[in-house]
Amino acid sequence: MINEMLLKFQEIFETNNAKVFFSPGRVNLIGEHIDYNGGLVFPCAISLGTYGVVAFNDTNTIRAYSLNFEALGLIKISLADLTYKKEDNWTNYVKGVVKFMKEAGHEINSGFDLLVYGNLPNGAGLSSSASLEMLTGKTLIDLFNLNISKVELALLGKRVENEFLGVNSGIMDQFAISLGKKDNATLLDCNTLDYKYAPVNFKNESIVIMNTNKRRELADSKYNERRAECEAALEQIKTIKNINALCELSTKDFNEISSVINNPIERKRAYHAVTENERVKSAIEALNNDDLITFGQLMTGSHTSLRDDYEVTGIELDTLVSSALKQPGVLGARMTGAGFGGCAIALVENPHVEEFIQKVGAEYKAAIGYEASFYIASTSDGPKKIN
Ligand code: GLA
Repeated sequence: MINEMLLKFQEIFETNNAKVFFSPGRVNLIGEHIDYNGGLVFPCAISLGTYGVVAFNDTNTIRAYSLNFEALGLIKISLADLTYKKEDNWTNYVKGVVKFMKEAGHEINSGFDLLVYGNLPNGAGLSSSASLEMLTGKTLIDLFNLNISKVELALLGKRVENEFLGVNSGIMDQFAISLGKKDNATLLDCNTLDYKYAPVNFKNESIVIMNTNKRRELADSKYNERRAECEAALEQIKTIKNINALCELSTKDFNEISSVINNPIERKRAYHAVTENERVKSAIEALNNDDLITFGQLMTGSHTSLRDDYEVTGIELDTLVSSALKQPGVLGARMTGAGFGGCAIALVENPHVEEFIQKVGAEYKAAIGYEASFYIASTSDGPKKIN
């Protein structure tokens, strides 16, 4: 693919003095919808992601072309006008990163040409947008010799989502990607941004990604609705207990005071956040003890909570997960990412993987009417230059 990209770059931009970069996507193993509740999350960067070929062009313009959206052709962004424009489509992610870097005082004073290709399924909850943001960030750091740490880059990407694109997402995706480490997942405390790595290069099991191929319609509005429900629950708890985030509570604490939350829906949302955070802690303990059976059960428990209490799954994700759990050699399964479509993951013993994909694929097709897609996740380092 890289060779094809280099050829295309040459054809479009008529220069061959280019550098190549790669930025991964991510799956979250456990700890869902709690990054914005001050919880613990446990994602890993994956080897599916976004490639970029780039070279200076001696102008004041960024010229960008995506092999995923060829119909859009070449999109030009003037460094003198870094405002959001709907018609600039995917390049708004690039623009947002450039804009916030410049605002932070980093000198980006020359235009460049950028060719992008991503092999992450679009809108499937594997963070194709954070992948593109972190690709852009890594590229700019290299081109302009900028002094920006991986954590700073993740925070900048989150600002692009929140302030430039208007998506109220948390820090998990950008952090998981920017600080990705091959063979490891990142245990991130979203309250403090303390993190540590834990090996997930399982000997006998694979993480199978199952894509519903359902468009994530309404995902952003429902996402913001869940955030608002959690904030409302927190406000009511704060009237009787001094906390800053829902995930500071244990399930026991929560059960003692949850009656202060008037609205039963908000109470359920908060219950998910509190119990999910405890599941992450138990999952890490299980992993430390090489107890993948318990780890898998906690994954499945996470899905149940996201289905029943947080209500972000839907028939497609539930079908994949319930079908997965019926197959031999499956230790656990759950949706991953924001939900409302997108992807689920299953932890499957290696000898059963092939049969698993066949059986779950057939059951899904019969129940939903169209195909699911499957990928075996392999972990990856964060964004990097490829020589
Ligand atoms: C999306 C957001 C993340 C996180 C997940 C749910 O991926 O971008 O910040 O909230 O949903 O865990």
